Amino acid sequence: MTERVLITGGSGFVGYHLIEAAVQAGLEVYAAVRPSSEVAHLQAFGIKYTSLDFSDVDAIKRELEEKQYHYIIHAAGITKAKQAGDYVRVNAEYTRNLGEAAAGAGIPLKKFVFISSLAALGPTAYEEVIPIHEASAAMPVTAYGKSKLLAEKYLAEVERLPLVVLRPTAVYGPREKDIFIILKTLNLGLEPYIGSKPQWLSFVYVKDLAKAVIQALGASINGASYNVSDGNRYNRYALASTTKYILGKKSVRIHMPIGMVRVMARLLEALYATSSKMPALNKEKLNELAAENWHCSIDKLKEELGFVPEYDLEKGLQQTLQWYKENKWL
Ligand SMILES: NC(=O)c1ccc[n+]([C@@H]2O[C@H](COP(=O)([O-])OP(=O)(O)OC[C@H]3O[C@@H](n4cnc5c(N)ncnc54)[C@H](OP(=O)(O)O)[C@@H]3O)[C@@H](O)[C@H]2O)c1
Repeated sequence: MTERVLITGGSGFVGYHLIEAAVQAGLEVYAAVRPSSEVAHLQAFGIKYTSLDFSDVDAIKRELEEKQYHYIIHAAGITKAKQAGDYVRVNAEYTRNLGEAAAGAGIPLKKFVFISSLAALGPTAYEEVIPIHEASAAMPVTAYGKSKLLAEKYLAEVERLPLVVLRPTAVYGPREKDIFIILKTLNLGLEPYIGSKPQWLSFVYVKDLAKAVIQALGASINGASYNVSDGNRYNRYALASTTKYILGKKSVRIHMPIGMVRVMARLLEALYATSSKMPALNKEKLNELAAENWHCSIDKLKEELGFVPEYDLEKGLQQTLQWYKENKWL
């Protein structure tokens, strides 16, 4: 019998690649989407759809029992929100509800993989030589990171949940929309930076993240958390240098004072005041964008799940930029 996986957040950037990897792994995929979700780009996968009322544990439980899932990958979440309370509700409380429903439902559940974020642990100081590791003290610098940490705490409290938590760093790849803004700006010949302090950054190509998620479904360990990156640390100029090298472009480097960027973020938020959306640059996000050191260790992921990253920044950006060009985003 084919095993069945529920993927929440299937309509999102990461969700698309999770679906692709799950289909390739031979799983029968159900994507949990909302009536408003865009799913046209998922059509070729021939997957099934479902909807979940994340605010109602019993309703979720009924849905899970009807479908008898073997795996749940929870990727639905918000990375930008108008109010801190929205992060708590969607990222933490909905996650707890899904976890409780999954543990309480009569289903043959083998694994519940939660897509958390490195933001739950938070960054370190530039001078710090030890990369952020799974046992590092969590010091999130945003309401988003705090909500992901709270979600992890809630899930850890759910008994009998075969849980694996993955904490990806910045994810890039085809269909991504925020790092894409930087790539588009570079393509126009501009290379803006927030402040002039040095930074260490980390990245993971979305296909490597999807591979780690599929490996996590087969993990024999429950209750563990893993950072996910390509294993490297990059200086703040690496993304731009690699992009320019691939695109064959030149650009002008501009270091904007952080105070000026903060004003820009405030202005953007004011411009979006009547919209339901939030700009990619906002006051809250600035704490993460300007953070000094996001270098994380993936030793645990390698040792316990056998993860081997296939893409460094150059290889991943080659594919990503090609996709943006072919699809006329660039
Ligand atoms: N992208 C990154 O760099 C990164 C890094 C670390 C962790 N993550 C985590 O990875 C997950 C996916 O992120 P992404 O980059 O793919 O974001 P995304 O493109 O914005 O996708 C978010 C997904 O969550 C769904 N969603 C949002 N609010 C929801 C709600 N209230 N009820 C039900 N579904 C809801 C969205 O559905 P609609 O299509 O209907 O809006 C969409 O499918 C998130 O949990 C995020 O925190 C992302």
